[in-house]
Amino acid sequence: MRIAVIGSGYAGTTLAAGLAALDHDVTAVDIDPEIVSSINAGEAPIHEPGLDQLLSEHAGQNLTATTEYAAIRDAAIVFIAVQTPSREDGSIDVAPLRGAVQSAARTLAEESHRDDGHVVAIKSTVTPPQVSALRDEILEIAGDAVHLELAMNPEFLREGSAVEDFLNPNKLVFGTDASLARERLEAAFTPLIADASPAVIHTDPETASMIKYANNAFLAAKISLINDLGNICKVFGIDAYEVAEAIGTDDRIGERFLRSGVGFGGSCFPKDVRAIIAASTEAGYEPSLLSAALAVNDGQPDRMLDLLERHTTPAESRVAVLGLAFKPGTDDIRNSRSIPVIEGLLERGATVIAYDPVATKQMRERFPDIEYARSAREALDGAGAALVLTAWDEFAALNGAFEEMSDRIVIDGRRVIEPQDGMTYEGLTW
Ligand code: UDX
Repeated sequence: MRIAVIGSGYAGTTLAAGLAALDHDVTAVDIDPEIVSSINAGEAPIHEPGLDQLLSEHAGQNLTATTEYAAIRDAAIVFIAVQTPSREDGSIDVAPLRGAVQSAARTLAEESHRDDGHVVAIKSTVTPPQVSALRDEILEIAGDAVHLELAMNPEFLREGSAVEDFLNPNKLVFGTDASLARERLEAAFTPLIADASPAVIHTDPETASMIKYANNAFLAAKISLINDLGNICKVFGIDAYEVAEAIGTDDRIGERFLRSGVGFGGSCFPKDVRAIIAASTEAGYEPSLLSAALAVNDGQPDRMLDLLERHTTPAESRVAVLGLAFKPGTDDIRNSRSIPVIEGLLERGATVIAYDPVATKQMRERFPDIEYARSAREALDGAGAALVLTAWDEFAALNGAFEEMSDRIVIDGRRVIEPQDGMTYEGLTW
């Protein structure tokens, strides 16, 4: 099938490479010429395991990138995966997506090379009312000039395992009111449906958008719930991980996403929860539980700082911050819990030395004036306290390195450090 993907960010590039791996003829369209030449050279414009390999196999074969919208005119499906930035109040700024949808619809209305119509499938995360508005607009632009159908096809990829998640989905959500869109989307993903047996959900576009928000809101709230329970455990002197392991055996609860600690970061959970709260509030319902989930998440970094202050005066201390990425396996620092922790340490007058195996460059742009170490060992050398914020495997193997600290105070936000003799160790929820 001839497929175009507009937007070559993390979701769009993974989608384009993944569809090429399913043997489709794929054209990736992006306004950034550097991204386009990177894809054409078979190199991933973002850090994502397995993506370089897929691109190098398919670029120049059945995958081409271009800056020209005209390249979409013979596509059976045009996926749109452009950014949906947040506004100050948490709501989604739909302008970049709207621009892409309008350009796609105009190109197809004026220059279509197909007489059997086109499907425009939105991958970007937008709220149900925004989906309705986009559908009205696209149909108006198409008019009688071309047959266009709109679909919402949300993605559930995790950073760091996006390629693997694409090839092994647990569900595919096809949101459309129209039959051509339904048929073509199912055909595009047929190899995955045959191999990975995902749940295939056919619904309308607004419900598809809500499924995406509900999925992320549910997982974010699950983490905040285990953090809230974990904070209760801490005040009672109980290990929240022992409690989580026990309740996880109840398959109504499930064992995953029960790791309590300093909370969730990343580009999706905080943004999507804020966006659905904003959209719902505007429509007349204020979701109090989701607001509480954000409040618990915002409070976890402060709880780490409170634990630190129980054992030392930050203003007199050199504090090592271990882990800057929002989770292991990525160099992404968006909404990383290390950001409010570093801010809190600086407000308290601490001297901060930070370390991360891959995200130092990104954090240096955010905090140019703190010190950065080249290894965890170097960060710990002479530090009075260490705060652990990302569950990198290498932190679990530090062992003797803690002996180089001036005071061995360790506050662990991710449960990766094994307490040792002579160490003052505090787990956030254990
Ligand atoms: C998430 C969703 O999982 C994915 O389906 C969606 O498409 C995008 O958002 P991602 O942001 O890549 O993916 O990361 P994920 O692995 O889900 O972790 C998110 C955050 O939650 C991380 O900061 C992680 O450390 C934290 N987390 C996760 C916990 O604190 N405890 C847990 O038990 C699980």
